[in-house]
Amino acid sequence: MPEYRTHEHDVLVIGGGGAGLRAAIAAAETAPALSVAVVSKVYPMRSHTVAAEGGAAAVIKPSDSLDDHAYDTISGGDWLCDQDAVEAFVREAPQEMLRLEYWGCPWSREPDGSVAVRSFGGMKTERTWFAADKTGFHMLHTLFQTSLKYQTITRYDEWFVTALLVDDGRCVGAVAIELATGQVQAVLARAVILTTGGCGKVFPFTTNASIKTGDGMALAYRAGVPLKDMEFVQYHPTGLPFTGILITEATRSEGGWLLNKDGYRYLQDYDLGTPEPHPVLRSMELGPRDRLSQAFVKEAALGRTIATKHGDVVHLDIRHLGAKVIETKLPFVRELCLKYEHLDPVKELIPVRPVVHYLMGGVHTDIRGATPMEGLFAAGETACVSINGANRLGSNSLTEILVFGARAGTAAAEYAAASRPASRSSVIAQVADEARRLRERFLDKSGGRERLATLRTEMQQAMEEGAGIYRDEAGLVAAAETIQVVKDRFPDVRLDDRSLTFNTELVTCLELANMLDVAETIIHSARAREESRGAHERTDYPARDDDRFLAHSLAWYSPNGPPRIEYLPVTITRWPPAERVYGG
Ligand code: FUM
Repeated sequence: MPEYRTHEHDVLVIGGGGAGLRAAIAAAETAPALSVAVVSKVYPMRSHTVAAEGGAAAVIKPSDSLDDHAYDTISGGDWLCDQDAVEAFVREAPQEMLRLEYWGCPWSREPDGSVAVRSFGGMKTERTWFAADKTGFHMLHTLFQTSLKYQTITRYDEWFVTALLVDDGRCVGAVAIELATGQVQAVLARAVILTTGGCGKVFPFTTNASIKTGDGMALAYRAGVPLKDMEFVQYHPTGLPFTGILITEATRSEGGWLLNKDGYRYLQDYDLGTPEPHPVLRSMELGPRDRLSQAFVKEAALGRTIATKHGDVVHLDIRHLGAKVIETKLPFVRELCLKYEHLDPVKELIPVRPVVHYLMGGVHTDIRGATPMEGLFAAGETACVSINGANRLGSNSLTEILVFGARAGTAAAEYAAASRPASRSSVIAQVADEARRLRERFLDKSGGRERLATLRTEMQQAMEEGAGIYRDEAGLVAAAETIQVVKDRFPDVRLDDRSLTFNTELVTCLELANMLDVAETIIHSARAREESRGAHERTDYPARDDDRFLAHSLAWYSPNGPPRIEYLPVTITRWPPAERVYGG
């Protein structure tokens, strides 16, 4: 087999989930003469977008307004969102959602035929569109089938990207392993878009699929592009114990309650409103995720949670909604409970606990999706644009992949159409180097004393202990030390599989290298931020400190030590910083 093969396109999209497919469609529509490649480590329908449940936010009802959506997003994000990005987001969101409808997305309907919307955590009105509780599944299918219409889009499924190609400071493609054959493949392009999703697998207990290993973040970081706001890790308040499977916030939107071991709706004690049903926000159970996850930890400290063999839990009660509502609006929740917990939520309580769900940070981009590196763009959870600030509101991210996927695809196509091809000779030398590195460091390597699973478990444990729902200096220092030790041991890892055909051990190893790089940015960014804001709650710095930290962190790669942390001012347009208020 030759050492590598090359392919040439104009725009290369890395990642075949919602953001990637939306970006590819936008690129194909913006510049029909350009060829667009989509490289994905899984078949696109297996991307994590498919698992999204509750819905996607966009203003549609006359009682709602773009300014209200913007304000909920900005206050929910504890004023760390860039307000120009949020304004663009809320403005373009309804168009994107309607476009998806024209492409065939089966949004749930009100009895009068209009699009149905539900309330969601931290949103002060009902604006979350949904397709029962399988919203991501339907959105991804719609995007995938639409992408098939474009002759100019070529897919390379089950290719794992190992490095970006950079020529004279400009991104001009990527090197990948074709998993079915082990062949190294170089895809040269004038513009590259990263849409590889998040990195929840850096933690031990997460709603994220096993594929969410921060690949795009690590590729950009090692190529010299900073990662922004990496300290902001979102815990979703309701995951199933052991599996971490998401039980959607839509359960609470439909009227579900969170109960402690005494059967008491404990959230009424945490400044999130009263148990009285509100006409729109039905209960304090629909507070923002950071506050609800923090309340769980406090209940546990008071001894009011329920001990199980998979850790402490509280109960989610949806029995009072009745079988009809559960069957029509929450069928997937019922299916998940029956399959994974062997209980029927129509009659029984669901055990739940907070679980790592989303990373607010990511590859630093502007509002067009452009990174500081010429020719490199990013969108979706891989990117930080930033509309999510210190705490994302549930249902903003599915809309984000549409709005900023489209923006990145358009910007990349425009850039590609106007740019010259890269110098092939310099790029080919890099491809040869990468093919050699993969062979010598991994495939031909013999010996080694470290096991992948051990290193991964140590990394995940350190992240949970040091950078969980509550953090402090001592815990972050300990986690930083562990991550460094694991990184130092990583080159001595032992690989047993020499096969070139679907070598999943090799992929797991490369994913671990990516996760270790991403983990260090989370820890060091968290350590440097000496305040509490949104999902970053420091017991040693309990107050928000706008004087020092109304700023985005930027973590820059340094090959021989921890990342360098710098700060960038937050863009404030119309909403000056204020206190976040949910009670009352
Ligand atoms: O609970 C959920 O359905 C999650 C939605 C989201 O993270 O946006």
